[in-house]
Amino acid sequence: MLMFFGRDEKKDTQKRAETVPLLPLRDIIVFPHMVVPLFVGRERSIAALNYAMAHKGADDKATILLAAQKKAKTNDPTPEDIFHFGTLGNLIQLLPLPDGTVKVLVEGMRRAKVKEFLPHDSFFMVQVEEVAESSEKSVEMEALVRSVHSVFEAFVKLNKRIPPEMLMQVSAIEEPARLADTIVAHLSLKLNDKQALLETESPVKRLEKLYELMQGEIEILQVEKKIRTRVKKQMEKTQKEYYLNEQMQAIQKELGERDEFKNEIQEIEEKLKTKRMSKEATLKVKKELKKLRMMSPMSAEATVVRNYIDWILSLPWYDETKDRLDVTEAERVLNEDHYGLKKAKERILEYLAVQALVQKLKGPILCFVGPPGVGKTSLARSIARATGRKFVRLSLGGVRDEAEIRGHRRTYIGAMPGKLIQSLKKAASNNPVFLLDEVDKMSTDFRGDPSSALLEVLDPEQNHSFNDHYLDLDYDLSKVMFICTANTMHNIPSPLQDRMEIIRIAGYTELEKLSIARRYLVPKQKDANGLGDVNVDFTDSAVRTVIHRYTRESGVRSLEREIASVFRKVARDVLKNGKRDIRVDQKLVRKYLGVQRYRFGMPEREDQVGIVTGLAWTEMGGELLTTEATVMPGKGKLIITGKLGEVMQESAQAALSYVRARAERFGIDKKFSETCDIHVHLPEGAIPKDGPSAGVTMATALVSALTKIPVRRDVAMTGEITLRGRVLPIGGLKEKALAAHRAGIKTVLIPKENRKDLREIPKKIRAAIRIVPVEFVDEVLREALVLENPDEFLKKPAPAEPKAEGVALPQQSATQPAAQ
Ligand SMILES: Nc1ncnc2c1ncn2[C@@H]1O[C@H](COP(=O)(O)OP(=O)(O)OP(=O)(O)O)[C@@H](O)[C@H]1O
Ligand SMILES: [Mg+2]
Repeated sequence: MLMFFGRDEKKDTQKRAETVPLLPLRDIIVFPHMVVPLFVGRERSIAALNYAMAHKGADDKATILLAAQKKAKTNDPTPEDIFHFGTLGNLIQLLPLPDGTVKVLVEGMRRAKVKEFLPHDSFFMVQVEEVAESSEKSVEMEALVRSVHSVFEAFVKLNKRIPPEMLMQVSAIEEPARLADTIVAHLSLKLNDKQALLETESPVKRLEKLYELMQGEIEILQVEKKIRTRVKKQMEKTQKEYYLNEQMQAIQKELGERDEFKNEIQEIEEKLKTKRMSKEATLKVKKELKKLRMMSPMSAEATVVRNYIDWILSLPWYDETKDRLDVTEAERVLNEDHYGLKKAKERILEYLAVQALVQKLKGPILCFVGPPGVGKTSLARSIARATGRKFVRLSLGGVRDEAEIRGHRRTYIGAMPGKLIQSLKKAASNNPVFLLDEVDKMSTDFRGDPSSALLEVLDPEQNHSFNDHYLDLDYDLSKVMFICTANTMHNIPSPLQDRMEIIRIAGYTELEKLSIARRYLVPKQKDANGLGDVNVDFTDSAVRTVIHRYTRESGVRSLEREIASVFRKVARDVLKNGKRDIRVDQKLVRKYLGVQRYRFGMPEREDQVGIVTGLAWTEMGGELLTTEATVMPGKGKLIITGKLGEVMQESAQAALSYVRARAERFGIDKKFSETCDIHVHLPEGAIPKDGPSAGVTMATALVSALTKIPVRRDVAMTGEITLRGRVLPIGGLKEKALAAHRAGIKTVLIPKENRKDLREIPKKIRAAIRIVPVEFVDEVLREALVLENPDEFLKKPAPAEPKAEGVALPQQSATQPAAQ
């Protein structure tokens, strides 16, 4: 019914300001008091603008309703696509642009509701109803306005997009409705939210809603800010690191290090290509190399990794020397280097022969056991020469930590591979002769047991995958020929002994020593002292003098040293007097070496009461050990001196008990144990002694002291005794026999059960001394005591008169009755 009003245009605007053209807006809602520029392109919209400009109202304003489209995308909206609530706007300026669109500056004035869409062809014409803003004032309102102000202030502080001037402008607004609308213009809200705010008629409600929205915004902004600062910090840190790294690299480049590092890595890569290693090792090196490339060359870590790689690359994984498998040639070499040692050499040659046949030998490990200076170490060296293998020696003396053999794990600072791997690197071949010298000198403590590591090394079933803690890779030791040496067997843990084939080298006889000196030591020392082209005649008697008077040993080390000493003096003479022909005889040796150090021959000059020569065995070989016993008035005390060990002391007690039990038989007063003290002493009291094998010696000394019958000085003995007077077997017979021979002893008494060991004693010695196996102490006494009538002695009943010092017997005589 109002259809026609549109026609009467001029009148309409004046009379009915409520009929206005509508400008549909995309994506924007214009609030009252807001001035915004709009770009208008749609034909209908431009027509609406033009209409409004042409029909200004009485207040000279070109009024138009600014209402938003529900969806921005809709190009040709119908009334349903448009919100029916908008803002009446005043077109301030219209500026047609060259491309046919129009830029328009519009100011929002008042809210208005669309009452009705009026029919119009070229644009929307609507009848609107203005919404009156209530301007009520209350305390509540006042409070609300203040809160909104303060929240807005906080909001502006957080939001960088709102210029701070806005704050001034807004804080001047006291009117609630205007305040709300001004603020809304600056909030980034969704279209629907904004529209809802527009449609909220009550300013109080609007402010409340706004307050809520701003609080939400602030929270979001705060979180955003937090994230931003965190990100920024992180960025700064990585940027800083990057920058510093770049700088460091520049410095390194300047110093030429980076290039060096690169070269180094390249070198490793080259080496990796050519080096033959286990697959595991190759993979490991590649992995470490990858790590290394990422590292700064100066860092401590890089050094650790580089070291590790170096170690792996420097090991002889598959580098081996070719074995000389000619047994005759090997024999020649062994003989060339060492005199005698028949058994050891034979065993070595057998070993080599078998190896030549089976290629890969899983045989037991050879272990040379014997006193110092008998050539154990040098024999091993000689084996290497004979087989054409490399030689490495690892001294185990004083090794007390498993890690010394197996290495420390790489996590330790300054970790290194164990000595075994280190030695292999030195050998530069994976099949050397590997001498484990002095296995008996290893010790065990809280750091672990080195022998347990050796167990694995020496086990042919296990040692193909030996794992060093540092390398942490399996290394194949199965081609290595291990040889051990030791002075005694005692200290070798038995599981280790079990893996070894023991070859005993007991020591040399005088004749052997003479031959060794003549053939090896003298020529060797002559050359070593620069007398190669001088004629030196070192006579046998001179060598014998050195052996007898200046050395006392099982081996030949001191002998070699003394010979060297003689040659040094000869060299001086040669330089001084220019002599070219020199004869070193007994006299010259005495002159050069000075006062003789040892007395040669038997320890005693005559047969004496209570002094008996025993035979002892030590790590140095066999030795003579005198036992003295003396009886004095007292109360039956047994005094034992000479630093004897527990076993030896008990041995003395046993001897005494034996003698007491048999006193009558020997013609000793039964009560001697109440009326006299007995003192047993072993000279060289500073040296600790132990072991049961002096039992017979002590028994003999006691009997001699109590009966006052002297003991023959050329008899030596060894054997443990029981309380009943049986003689039990002992060890080290060969060494003891050698020692007895060295000292010029004529008769040696040994336990009968040791007869089986006689074979070990060199024939020459067996020929030179009389060896008497005995079963009971009676037999010992019969041999050792100077008796006129041995048979009678042992049957003699105890004499009637109780004399503390035993019976008077035929006094000692220097003449020796022939003993069988
Ligand atoms: N049978 C021998 N023939 C030639 N030389 C020998 C013989 N025995 C030992 N020697 C020489 O004696 C010296 C000492 O030998 P070596 O060092 O091998 O003794 P060892 O048994 O290892 O002693 P230790 O137990 O003290 O280590 C060496 O110079 C060695 O050549
Ligand atoms: Mg040695």
